[in-house]
Amino acid sequence: MATSLAELATASPAPIGPALTPAQIFAVARAREEALSRMLMAFVTTGLFFMLFPGTFLGVWNLLQISGRESVASISPAWLQAHGHAQVFGWVASFIMGIGFYSIPKLRGGANPSFRAAWVCWAMWTTGVAVRWLATVYLWAWRILLPFSALLELAAFLIFFRAVSGHQPNEPGKEKLGAWIYVVVTASAGLLAVLATNLVGCSYVAFRAATPAFPHVFDQRYLALMAWGFLVPFVWGFSAKWMPVFLGLKPLRPRLLLAAVAMNLLGLAFTLAGVGWIGAWLFVASSAVAVMSLRMFEPAVREAKIRGIHSSFPYFIRMAYVWLLIAALLGVAAGRWDHSGGIWGASRHALTVGFISLMILSVGQRILPAFAGMRLLWSTKLMYASPLLINIGCTLRVSCEVLAYQDYAAWAWQALPLSALLELTGLTIFAINVAGTFILQPSHAFKEPMVATIADRPVSRDKS
Ligand code: HEM
Repeated sequence: MATSLAELATASPAPIGPALTPAQIFAVARAREEALSRMLMAFVTTGLFFMLFPGTFLGVWNLLQISGRESVASISPAWLQAHGHAQVFGWVASFIMGIGFYSIPKLRGGANPSFRAAWVCWAMWTTGVAVRWLATVYLWAWRILLPFSALLELAAFLIFFRAVSGHQPNEPGKEKLGAWIYVVVTASAGLLAVLATNLVGCSYVAFRAATPAFPHVFDQRYLALMAWGFLVPFVWGFSAKWMPVFLGLKPLRPRLLLAAVAMNLLGLAFTLAGVGWIGAWLFVASSAVAVMSLRMFEPAVREAKIRGIHSSFPYFIRMAYVWLLIAALLGVAAGRWDHSGGIWGASRHALTVGFISLMILSVGQRILPAFAGMRLLWSTKLMYASPLLINIGCTLRVSCEVLAYQDYAAWAWQALPLSALLELTGLTIFAINVAGTFILQPSHAFKEPMVATIADRPVSRDKS
């Protein structure tokens, strides 16, 4: 019976029909929910692995080398890029795909998700990111493996995109698409553009370059596309969907959000065309408008949903948006004063660690326990410790990177390793807390027939 239910649960289209008894319908729904949670946990676990080992440990190693030599120029650009790739694709994008496969078909009220497509996507994506890291760091057959990994990643994303965009509402016209969906679609198009650019870059270096590192100017624009074309709009989209509920904010201003996205795209166009100073100002403006549209710093109208998690959650979410504004302003400063890569590095770090990582740490510990079979978060204290350490580490890193790299204060070189260790500890604690939740916490799902509906909503355990 279990096998046949599992087959029914993962079959597409949905097999639930009048031929099944209510008990069987519940059993199929339960098996399907279990299969979805298992798939989500696979994406999240590999994401955590990439974040910790190929991503953060290599980032810390790079920073220790840079601090020891008091120069960023002496470090292999390939290693810096391997670190960035593992973080953004291995960690952030794996999380996004896992959550996307898990929730979008259900959010859109569609038919059974395509499990086979999800697992093929997971295998191709994970292999692509791992091969890229190994080939870049160990230089093993990199001229072949770099384009191969980029192709695998692009193909995996296309599977994901097809799966999540193929699910339509059951009743056309019933569900009006929210502004957040358009923002997420824009971000997905941004990710597609990043992956296509990555393929072009990998093919170029494979045929023309002496090392697997992208040329500097190309890499800078590629990073701008990655940051402002993919990462930032994704967070805005999911903030628009979740934060009014999670933080009890006043209702979203949808037109303002779409205006922010348009401004951001214009900024990106200027940056990619080489007019970076206009692009940088537009990023400041678009970030400010996005904050206004989300009403992030306006007084809340309802209590925040913090049952089962640490009460600091709303503060760290707002702190992440402060980091976004700092990152954008540092981008303007970099265009004016940077002569060492230090202000650019500080801006990028404020964005990737201050904004993106802080959001993932906060929202991840908020929603993943529920998505992974209605578990409780393993430790609320660890949930507090991880973003706190990230905040302190990021403050130290961003300020000292400017002071040290720009030759404003020699003592700042000594502070950089400490910043790396604080951030490493914060990220490790996050990984431990999520892993502890998956492994040690019992699943409370699948006990009642309403489970599929309940698990759809990340706030479901809060009755407030
Ligand atoms: C312990 C945490 C981290 C450390 C110590 C670290 C360290 C570094 C270092 C030393 C660089 C070289 C440029 C510079 O000097 O600023 C760098 C670049 C970069 N980092 Fe990190 N990083 C960390 C976390 C992250 C995270 C969480 C992300 C993304 C979510 C990220 C994404 C990037 C990207 C995209 C680059 C640019 C790579 C390139 O030049 O192509 N980093 N990081």
